[in-house]
Amino acid sequence: MEGKRFINYQQIIIVLILGSAFLLFQFLSVRASSVHYYDFVLKEINVTKLCANQTILTVNGLFPGPVIRVHKGDTVFVNVTNQGNYGVTIHWHGVKQPRNPWSDGPVFITQCPIQPGSNFTYQVIFSEEEGTLWWHAHSDWTRSTVHGAIVILPKEGTSFPFPEPDGEEVIVLGSWYTGDLNEEVNEDLEEGVDIPHSSGFLINGELGDFANCSSETTYRWSVDYGKTYLLRIVNAVSDDEIFFAIAEHNLTVVGLDAAYVKPFVTSYIMISPGQTMDVLLTADRPLGHYYMASREFLTENATQDHNNGSAIIEYTGDYNFSSFPIFPHQLPQVLDMKAAMRFTGFIRSLANEDYPVDVPKNITTRMFITVSMGELCENRTNCNITAGSDNILGSTLNNISWLNPTVDVLQAYYRNISGYYTTDFPDRPSVMYNFTEDSDDPDLVMTAQGTRVKVLNYNESVEIVFQGTGLLDGAGVHPMHMHGYSFYVIGMGQGNFDNETDPLTFNLVDPPKANTFIVPKYGWLAIRFVANNPGVWFWHCHFDRHLSWGMDTVFIVKNGDTEETSMLPPPSNMPICTGYPEIFLTGGKNDDGDQIYL
Ligand code: C2O
Ligand code: CU
Repeated sequence: MEGKRFINYQQIIIVLILGSAFLLFQFLSVRASSVHYYDFVLKEINVTKLCANQTILTVNGLFPGPVIRVHKGDTVFVNVTNQGNYGVTIHWHGVKQPRNPWSDGPVFITQCPIQPGSNFTYQVIFSEEEGTLWWHAHSDWTRSTVHGAIVILPKEGTSFPFPEPDGEEVIVLGSWYTGDLNEEVNEDLEEGVDIPHSSGFLINGELGDFANCSSETTYRWSVDYGKTYLLRIVNAVSDDEIFFAIAEHNLTVVGLDAAYVKPFVTSYIMISPGQTMDVLLTADRPLGHYYMASREFLTENATQDHNNGSAIIEYTGDYNFSSFPIFPHQLPQVLDMKAAMRFTGFIRSLANEDYPVDVPKNITTRMFITVSMGELCENRTNCNITAGSDNILGSTLNNISWLNPTVDVLQAYYRNISGYYTTDFPDRPSVMYNFTEDSDDPDLVMTAQGTRVKVLNYNESVEIVFQGTGLLDGAGVHPMHMHGYSFYVIGMGQGNFDNETDPLTFNLVDPPKANTFIVPKYGWLAIRFVANNPGVWFWHCHFDRHLSWGMDTVFIVKNGDTEETSMLPPPSNMPICTGYPEIFLTGGKNDDGDQIYL
């Protein structure tokens, strides 16, 4: 008896020691964040698609590009070497980059292009993000082939807010353009005419069985019966919202833009360009082959690319399979607005004790911003566009069409040199009208180009209502994307925003947190965020055509009072702008009379 009891004590002590060592290990490993290094070499490769040979710019010869894998809170240094033929910048889409706009990437906003033959090292600082994000080129239309996923795992020692999946699969949705896209776009922009449309949709770089000369290379993914997989879906399409579904399988959506959502089951998703979704898939159907497919969601019957992108899920095991894979018939039709809005309405923040929401309540800056099509170059004055049709297309925010400066806004702001931007982006449109009505009244549609930014004080609580318009019969959805921030989507609705009744419908309890979200067609979107990330932050519609036409602007968020609330100093090797004036290159005095050097 006695002996036995003694042994028990010993066991208990050993268990206690091991237990506390384990807890200490957990504690230490939860806190540790690590640093990773990646080399990105921009280079051209030859590919054959739609029966034709073509050269595309890639990172490391991969299309889609390499996956960056980190844990929450890590830091990554990415050395980008440009072995291509034109200047490029890279953006880390959805990474907040606290205090570090220097590595954010949008061309002429936070940096100038990395020229062929040179390199630049980005410091990508992860903080609150957990789930999936992505990186892409942010100059010209280069992002159509220069993009890849970012996987952000929970901190070591912590786990997902759902049972650990048995496996993971990254699904990058892309669009394929034939010809030299950048060249064509630049010509079209100069002439003020429509921009090329894609000629197919890609899943992990392949068009799939429904496109010409493509079935040999269709992307295939094997799954084991009974297992649950975490799909990390990225919409890297240049110009379209996408419906996506898997034949015979339901999807459980668990994350959006690297923030968790209340899980919900659906037979399809609608994902905006720029967005990323984490989705659970259980392989519980009869052994066989199933298509996953992507299809554009359009809001008007435009001449676009109506092909489906596809890939194949193959169950492992011994079985005979001879027929075609089953197609996901639940995939909504191209114009199915109801399906798109129904899906969007399901998205809610997880909002529990471990993942609380923190929606700003005392708003200090309110903005009401029209998101619209417009016409540039009235009487062909004050305008960069040389030739072309009678109506020169533009896109606008509060009837201003963004024009890139020749020196990036960040340098001009940091060095305090005037003449590159103005700080008068308006908080509301200069005239109020029936926004959702079609009109070609020149007083409403004629627009001026400008480099007009909005300055926010540190820690301002901001509410923005984006109002879609029907001008020029150009109503549509607009996936608005913000750099440097995620925002809470507190409301959306149809028609003109009513500032008395519509705020009563706001969701301040579990609104989704996103970096990109659609303004509905003929409708409005309300968002909130706290301006606690000092820097220069671009925001824009994530359709490349609208981005190029000027549906963009910049927030300059001022420094707070302390070093910890101020921008980091610039890295030493920022690419030089060819548009830099003397003062930047040889030193000189800025508007405050300070001597500056680059
Ligand atoms: Cu996906 Cu301005 O970016
Ligand atoms: Cu848009």
